[in-house]
Amino acid sequence: MRSVVVTSLGVLTLAGLLAPPAQAAPAPHAPPPKEVKRPVAEGYGGAVATVDLDASKAALTVLRQGGNAMDAAVAGAAALGVTEPYSAGLAGGGFLVYYDARHRKVTTIDGRETAPRAMTSTALEGIPFAEAVSSGLSVGVPGSVAQWDLALRKYGTMSLRQALRPAIEIADRGFVVDQTFYDQTQQNAVRFADFTSTAALYLPGGQPPPVGSTFRNPDLARTYRELGIRGPAWLYGGDLGREIVATVKKPPVRDGATRNVRSGLMEVGDLRAYRALERPPTKVTYKGLDVYGMAPPSSGGSTVGEALNILEALPKIGLHEYLEASRLAFADRNAYVGDPAYTPVPLGDLLSDGFAKERACLIGPRAMPHPAAPGSPDGSYSPCAAPTTPAAPAASAPEEKKEGPETTHLVVTDRWGDVAAYNITIEQTGGSGIVVPGRGILLNNELTDFTFGPAPGDPNLPAPGKRPRSSMAPTIVLKDGSPLLAVGSPGGATIITTVLQILVNRLDFGMSLPDAVAAPRASQRNTAATQAEPAFTQRYGAELTALGHTLTDVPGPPAGEIGAATGLEFLRNGRVQAVAEPARRGGGSALVVATHR
Ligand code: DON
Repeated sequence: MRSVVVTSLGVLTLAGLLAPPAQAAPAPHAPPPKEVKRPVAEGYGGAVATVDLDASKAALTVLRQGGNAMDAAVAGAAALGVTEPYSAGLAGGGFLVYYDARHRKVTTIDGRETAPRAMTSTALEGIPFAEAVSSGLSVGVPGSVAQWDLALRKYGTMSLRQALRPAIEIADRGFVVDQTFYDQTQQNAVRFADFTSTAALYLPGGQPPPVGSTFRNPDLARTYRELGIRGPAWLYGGDLGREIVATVKKPPVRDGATRNVRSGLMEVGDLRAYRALERPPTKVTYKGLDVYGMAPPSSGGSTVGEALNILEALPKIGLHEYLEASRLAFADRNAYVGDPAYTPVPLGDLLSDGFAKERACLIGPRAMPHPAAPGSPDGSYSPCAAPTTPAAPAASAPEEKKEGPETTHLVVTDRWGDVAAYNITIEQTGGSGIVVPGRGILLNNELTDFTFGPAPGDPNLPAPGKRPRSSMAPTIVLKDGSPLLAVGSPGGATIITTVLQILVNRLDFGMSLPDAVAAPRASQRNTAATQAEPAFTQRYGAELTALGHTLTDVPGPPAGEIGAATGLEFLRNGRVQAVAEPARRGGGSALVVATHR
């Protein structure tokens, strides 16, 4: 293995080739630049990055109207529900990490979907995964609207009605279909065609809307408008809730469809009982920086945090160490993390330096045997003595579920220095594939994130009201109490490795944030082979294989891609760099309120 410096320079060079140059600083007094889709923007007074230009503009509009980062995050998420409807929407959920500049405090808001109260630990047992995906059974009680409401009431300055306005406008006026939207529709065409409401919206004339055409969603515009007027109770117990429950119980399957579509267990009472929750963030210190993430029921903060702690306990950090730390952290994630209201998660120990040092002892010069057993986060640690206690075989079984590329992440900061890192999802590309008739919204299939079982003792088995374990990892890094970075990604469990790799690229390998985001990725999740993007395998395959790693291609669609991430870096004197993808998922959009003071 080459030294860190050589390795990081190598990655830096390649990433530099992949990434378009940062937006050049304009001449003083130049007219404001036209808002076009660029992956990097630098400036002042607020910034945003999302996967989509219209959504970034929606958030920017709110910032320019005087809204704060929380207002803009909600507006951006609602807009993504229009333009990225297969990844996000009001019938989905998400996790938000927020830096409140006035109180110099990081907090999080959990808008994760819940299982209906009728869902038992064996409800998913024996059901083929592919069948669960397009079913009413997999639809979790939506969390996004309650999350928006709580977020705005506690940290925002705008009403939900105001924050929804830019999204309503996009849904009414329409957006231009790009290749990504077309491809995602095409990939889903067979199952979309089986649901009458979904086919009517997303397969007009029986086909995906062509690239370059304008796609409108007037039903969604009406739904958002009415939500703004009636408030969240319209969903959580009111008429919209009743329509969702009716759709979950009896999905609108077309006559003649051969698909076995299971009906769901959700009742209006489940919607009434739903609460978004404010939770303390996870926190680790890494190289003197404070890294804040999302606590359980997401495994994002605990797994990224544990891996960073393990890396910090090692004498050197390179790609081999990155993969091995991730492998170990995933072994522990799979064994110990679930909804903390249902399973005792040893979070303090998972994030302790003592545990990390004990785990770091297992990392040698070569890839460790597969699978790595989980450690014992029990408060009693012996650095580099005997090997750690082997765990129960069931707990050490690697996760087999295929990780899709979807979900989305946005970052926003405002003129006061508040920061939002926000992951939103309806789980798979297109969620359950079921549109609520007349409402323009796709239902999530988040309950497929539960372990189907049988898996006695697994912390992530379904239960009434339980939140499925997530991998979403919105992350904010503070330096001396002030924001330095905000990062997040889509991609199922690869979200964790993407965030970790971007942090390591930036903080250990000396890359700029745009290069750290653009650099080719690899994802090791305690699986026999490490998934890697083609450019990663090309560049590092030989040296990592020589150390005992096995690299394998990332399955599609879209093949070969891991995680279209977004991030922010806080530069000197109030200057902020907003970063989106230059290429993955068709490239994202970074915007700033002003390019100069
Ligand atoms: O919460 C999670 O971790 C997933 N439901 C996110 C979904 C995703 O990123 C796309 N892949 N399956």
